[in-house]
Amino acid sequence: MSERILIIDDDIDTLKLVGLMLERQGYEIAVAGNGAQGLAKAAAVRPDLILLDVMMPDLDGYEVTRRLRSDPTLAHIPIIMFTAKSMVDDKVMGFEAGVDDYLTKPTHPAELTAHVKAVLARSQQARLTPGDKARVLGFIGARGGLGTTTTAVNVAVALQDSGHDVLIVEMNPGHGTLALELNLTQSQGIGNLLTRSLKDIHLRSVETEIANHKSGIRVLPASHQPSESELEQAVPQMEAILGNISALCTTAVLDLGAGIRAYTRHILELCDLITLVVEPIYPTTAVARALLDDIVASGISRHKLNLALITRQRTSLQIPWRQVQTDIGIELAGIVSPAPEQAHQASQGGMPLIIMHPESLVTDQINKMADQLASQMQPVGS
Ligand SMILES: Nc1ncnc2c1ncn2[C@@H]1O[C@H](COP(=O)(O)OP(=O)(O)OP(=O)(O)O)[C@@H](O)[C@H]1O
Ligand SMILES: [Mg+2]
Repeated sequence: MSERILIIDDDIDTLKLVGLMLERQGYEIAVAGNGAQGLAKAAAVRPDLILLDVMMPDLDGYEVTRRLRSDPTLAHIPIIMFTAKSMVDDKVMGFEAGVDDYLTKPTHPAELTAHVKAVLARSQQARLTPGDKARVLGFIGARGGLGTTTTAVNVAVALQDSGHDVLIVEMNPGHGTLALELNLTQSQGIGNLLTRSLKDIHLRSVETEIANHKSGIRVLPASHQPSESELEQAVPQMEAILGNISALCTTAVLDLGAGIRAYTRHILELCDLITLVVEPIYPTTAVARALLDDIVASGISRHKLNLALITRQRTSLQIPWRQVQTDIGIELAGIVSPAPEQAHQASQGGMPLIIMHPESLVTDQINKMADQLASQMQPVGS
């Protein structure tokens, strides 16, 4: 998928000429003939870059820049300002308004291409540094089938309900169950991105794979096709996806599946907080301890790690939570009680449990866990 560039200029010749030059380079072009149209078009087509004229009759380039920068959904789009002038004052004003780069008209095609490429590359690079945009919360299971996905999705919904703008990502190619649990038709999601070359993983290609669930939560699911588990080797792609995700939400919740995979350490490094999902039953607790040791040995700080205890069996069969916490030795984020019927009904209804059963004990426990995790995450921008 080629990158999309929006040109905003009241001069029809510039629109045609520059548009044509960039189209020849393989970019997809959208145009607008004044500032107001430009803002509307930016919201509609979500370009990867905007070329903006400074002198326009209605809103000038500075005002358009200010308005783009104050809209959270458009603020990240890089802007190159086009100007007939090359006065230093104009440039300063533009940079103050939030412009990324300048081109002086008339522009040589080679100069235009060089600036466009450089600005696009810089913005791609900026998106590869997660953490400064969204908080990243990872969930990793000590073993398979313990309730990692259930916990991640319900905590994600609880965080969304308390005002976070959340995106849940199933970083678990070939083992996805979220699309099935939430009754989403789109189940290739992350698999479609992991097969791409790095330059084709950008905001728009990532956005295309995101499904909007009727609960209001946004989901980037993984397929349940076992052969897709090979895609877990695509570590740079996984990192690039997360980089883009971090520009699309304030809180990214990652379901990292169970145990250690090729991408696990790389992605854990990019997480602000990691929740280890454990069932308080032997030998799962021993496996959890071993997993924790491996994670810490790979250089991840123990302070980033939390424990979620998911119980699916009668309390009498379980190891008391205090003992598990002492044995594993990390902070307890929360406990979830057995709720087999409610969990079953939730997946039958394609709804997260806490929405399906808002008054239940488990909903209460999930909300507490989400609050606990939120209190440990630094707010965005701090
Ligand atoms: N608190 C609970 N009580 C009873 N059953 C539960 C509870 N939480 C989840 N379950 C059920 O346990 C099963 C496994 O849950 P889930 O898919 O979340 O686990 P997982 O660890 O993500 O599994 P996988 O290893 O396949 O990714 C599901 O059928 C789910 O409905
Ligand atoms: Mg799962």
